[in-house]
Amino acid sequence: MDKFVIRGGNPLLGTVRVSGAKNAALPAMAAALLTEEPVTLENVPQVRDIETTRRLLAAMGADVELGYGRAQHRTTICCRSLASPEASYELVKTMRASTLVLGPLVARCGTARVSLPGGCAIGARPIDLHIKGLERLGAKINQEHGYVEASAKRLRGAEIIFDKVTVTGTEDVMMAATLAEGTTVMENCACEPEVADLADLLTKMGARIEGAGTSTIRVHGVSKLHGAKHRIIPDRIEAGTFIIAGAITGGDLNVAGCEPTHLSVLLQKLGEVGLKVAHHGDSVRVLSEGNLKASDIATEEYPGFPTDMQAQYMALATQAAGTSVITENIFENRFMHAQELVRMGANIKIEGRRAVVRGKSPLSAAAVLASDLRASASLVIAALVAEGETIIDRVYHIDRGYEHIEEKLRSVGAQIRRIGEMLPKKIAAPLVKA
Ligand code: EPU
Repeated sequence: MDKFVIRGGNPLLGTVRVSGAKNAALPAMAAALLTEEPVTLENVPQVRDIETTRRLLAAMGADVELGYGRAQHRTTICCRSLASPEASYELVKTMRASTLVLGPLVARCGTARVSLPGGCAIGARPIDLHIKGLERLGAKINQEHGYVEASAKRLRGAEIIFDKVTVTGTEDVMMAATLAEGTTVMENCACEPEVADLADLLTKMGARIEGAGTSTIRVHGVSKLHGAKHRIIPDRIEAGTFIIAGAITGGDLNVAGCEPTHLSVLLQKLGEVGLKVAHHGDSVRVLSEGNLKASDIATEEYPGFPTDMQAQYMALATQAAGTSVITENIFENRFMHAQELVRMGANIKIEGRRAVVRGKSPLSAAAVLASDLRASASLVIAALVAEGETIIDRVYHIDRGYEHIEEKLRSVGAQIRRIGEMLPKKIAAPLVKA
């Protein structure tokens, strides 16, 4: 199993480029199930979850080409025939976002069989809201032997009010509604940029969608969708991770190829913490002159402070003078990184959904364990300022969502190396046919 070895102390200097958003690319790949024609996606990040989705679609009979390098992260997916509209437990258990295929499959094939995901390191994460939404569209749903089975002759437009804001739930139901008969009105939708990006792709495929990116989405169903070409938006969480990495090291880092408007709340918060943050075009420059001040955050749905940046912010808070209270409102168990940060010398107390971080604490290298994707990122950030050589185990979590993070960090001055196996060579090859 791969590990990262990181020697702290170097300020990050220079420019680092952001990849395409994993959480936009995953639903976009699922959207290709809605048409018989090829869908080409550009700026798809080279991360493990994308490879898992390729395997998921290929197992259903889709033809998936993943192209990197000179092919510029282009993926072409053709779902002409879907012999087996099913997502097996083997794949779903490794990636919960696999449930994104449920809506598109039942809309396109009239039937779908998708494994229930079960809990994960950050919380219970049920999919009841996806199921309720599809039932409102007329799908018959059965749950048996750990699988959800959905069927419908043709889905019918309906009014759906989500009990709680859900990102992939909004995406799943929106995809299904594109092929339903009549109009669907969805209320209390997720407003994340990834939802709007998916709607952009679906619109290019011939869907009629209004309001994506706001809490009310209207979908006027059509009988057929066609192929399209789409460029995935930049990854705002990867950008935010680099910005905090630059900040904690006292560096001067330019994070290029991002969309600063997607980072507004984070950038404002970093200003309060005492960092100099400026954006120009598609770049954000972060400059730290030390003397960070504590500041509280509470995670919220977009446009609030993202739960996917909470762990990285906690690492930064350990280096700020004073007490920062971090409240996690989205997931019930997303503080697994806190105990690892404590092992590195941080002063953090967990009280239910709140973490109280008292800084500034000098961090010292330790052997630590990554528990999920963003927790791993937080440990990498902490290790960049820790005294000595930190060893982070189970970095396969970070490979799920960060493209070659160690190479990118090394290019701006970090001392980081991977020991163990690199990403599988076959997904790094120029063109791989499924
Ligand atoms: N929820 C339900 N029922 C449902 C769906 C969600 O109760 O049917 C609850 C969840 O348990 C959670 C809350 O609603 O408490 C919000 O969950 P949401 O459905 O929005 O999360 P998700 O769609 O499963 C996406 C991202 C996550 C990100 C969250 C929140 C993708 C592929 N994943 O997950 O990303 O944390 O939204 O912003 O888009 C990550 O990239 O590391 C990651 C975990």
